[in-house]
Amino acid sequence: MSGTILETDRLLLRLQTVDDVPALVALWSDPDVTRHLGGPRERRFLEEEFGKTARDPEPERFDLWPVIEKVTGLLVGHCGLLDKDIEGTVEVELVYIIRAASWGMGYASEIAAAIRDHAFRVMGMRRLVALIEPSNTGSERVAVKVGMRFDREVPRPGGARKRLYLVEAGGKVDRVIPPAG
Ligand SMILES: CC(C)(COP(=O)(O)OP(=O)(O)OC[C@H]1O[C@@H](n2cnc3c(N)ncnc32)[C@H](O)[C@@H]1OP(=O)(O)O)[C@@H](O)C(=O)NCCC(=O)NCCS
Repeated sequence: MSGTILETDRLLLRLQTVDDVPALVALWSDPDVTRHLGGPRERRFLEEEFGKTARDPEPERFDLWPVIEKVTGLLVGHCGLLDKDIEGTVEVELVYIIRAASWGMGYASEIAAAIRDHAFRVMGMRRLVALIEPSNTGSERVAVKVGMRFDREVPRPGGARKRLYLVEAGGKVDRVIPPAG
């Protein structure tokens, strides 16, 4: 379909439409899904924001996009790339958010690996990071599965510390990783 960004065996990443708004609102207002992402967002705010994106779906270089389960056509996630200032350096984060009903099916790993490949091969990027709350075991597991390595803990706005994982094009990580402890 038009608007497709990339496709895997089971999933499609594509531009957002107005029909995606209810599922995206449900995703971002779910306390379980947003537990490690700053908590549920207010529904009215989400409706406005996703409504705006649907009216102007021009692809942004860095954004989150709907993940569609091919066999059902259901929106099962919101994933993509976001640019972030980390300790004064602009890094691009690989972000994966899957609806709770679809956890444990390998979807996050499948779409994250495809977005990583797209970033390196199509967009010409050299490195991606993931910023992960220390208690978000599932997210760390996905990061490792897509080839990321723990680099360091970084402070975030508001005082929280997050674990920074990174992967470089070609699989090379250019920092020496200190032993744990
Ligand atoms: C974390 C998250 C993305 C995992 O999605 P998923 O589609 O269930 O992940 P996968 O099925 O690809 O699982 C990948 C691996 O992580 C493991 N895993 C997933 N969730 C886990 C959890 N909560 N605790 C421990 N391991 C977990 C799986 O067992 C699997 O490991 P394996 O291949 O060794 O068996 C999903 O739970 C989610 O969207 N959470 C809320 C949003 C979020 O925190 N996103 C990450 C920050 S951007």
